[in-house]
Amino acid sequence: MSLLKTAKHLKHGLTRSLDVKNRNVRVVGLMATDLCKSRCRHCFIWNKKEHHHLGVDVVEQLLQDPAVTRKTFFELTGGEFLEHPEWREIVRLVKAAGNDFVVLSNGMYPDELIEAVKEYKIPNVYMSLDGLGETYKKVRGVDCSADIIRIVDEIKDLTNVHLGYTITPWNALEDLKQVKALAEEKGVEMSVGAYQNPEFFDTVKPGGKISAEHEPYLDEFMRLNNAWMDKRFSIPCWNIRTKCYILGNGDVFLCQQKSVVLGNLNEKSFNEIWNSPETIATHEEYAKCNDCWLACNRPLDAQLAYAGRLVFSNKRMNKMFGEHDWDLVLDAFRNQNGSTPS
Ligand SMILES: C[S@@+](CC[C@H](N)C(=O)[O-])C[C@H]1O[C@@H](n2cnc3c(N)ncnc32)[C@H](O)[C@@H]1O
Ligand code: SF4
Ligand code: SF4
Repeated sequence: MSLLKTAKHLKHGLTRSLDVKNRNVRVVGLMATDLCKSRCRHCFIWNKKEHHHLGVDVVEQLLQDPAVTRKTFFELTGGEFLEHPEWREIVRLVKAAGNDFVVLSNGMYPDELIEAVKEYKIPNVYMSLDGLGETYKKVRGVDCSADIIRIVDEIKDLTNVHLGYTITPWNALEDLKQVKALAEEKGVEMSVGAYQNPEFFDTVKPGGKISAEHEPYLDEFMRLNNAWMDKRFSIPCWNIRTKCYILGNGDVFLCQQKSVVLGNLNEKSFNEIWNSPETIATHEEYAKCNDCWLACNRPLDAQLAYAGRLVFSNKRMNKMFGEHDWDLVLDAFRNQNGSTPS
């Protein structure tokens, strides 16, 4: 790894460790609705019997909350965010507040998304693409891949476009290669995650290991997935002190994996919930949790473990954070293929 890249990891580690220490809210995931017309096999949010949409008034209050700053990044997601009856109003509010944000989408509403990127100057768009054509249909029940390609073509010069590929039991290496080739051809970012079992997603099939042939396509974080799956690897869970998810019914979730409710925004303000003794105690309680390796929560933990291990010896890390496999993180991050934190 180059000196420059190592220095970036160290700088990132230092800033983020201060966020963890101070419990600064860096990322809020608004799972604003659980409506979704996809029929995914890796996520059954579409099959929820009751539907909830986060109130626009709740979002408005959240943006003025003292625990949320202009540095807080918002993930506007769902379900399918564009199925929230007032999704445009939420985008408008977050944009007007001056916070950076991303809209996540399955690409099912191409005209609406393209128009919104232009009208609201959405800074980041993340679209899931787990394969093209038949594979997309196999994973998601409907084929939106052609629509996603059209969206990419129309917005790639207007916003940061990110394609998210999830390795699932229903797609294969060839699909990943096709999506990677597409991302390269269009000049957009791409990341690779892996199928797991978040409680809220009501998944049926248990997550499994990633086959070795995928390895060259994984970043440092995902390269640790199999060691985690084998229960050979654990590090502390720090990220929950800087990130949470908010559900359509106003519940504030500890993380994407566990449906642990910190409080409800229809009853208390976000600040009251986030800074309550109960939430602080819950963050303490889950500090040793290692129950997921989800790409939406745990990369920060791997980055902090790596930066820490660069500075301190194994012995010192063990003394500060308990016995963990710090050298596995070191090995994974030393590989040149990985990304550099911003
Ligand atoms: C829950 S979706 C919400 C946004 C939008 N509906 C979409 O599909 O992109 C957010 C991301 O989670 C991924 N995902 C869904 N089920 C998953 C699972 N069981 N394990 C890991 N990632 C999953 C999706 O592929 C998608 O990239
Ligand atoms: S992954 Fe996205 S598109 Fe698929 S069911 Fe879940 S929320 Fe809907
Ligand atoms: S390790 Fe545990 S607390 Fe941390 S994000 Fe995963 S499930 Fe949540």
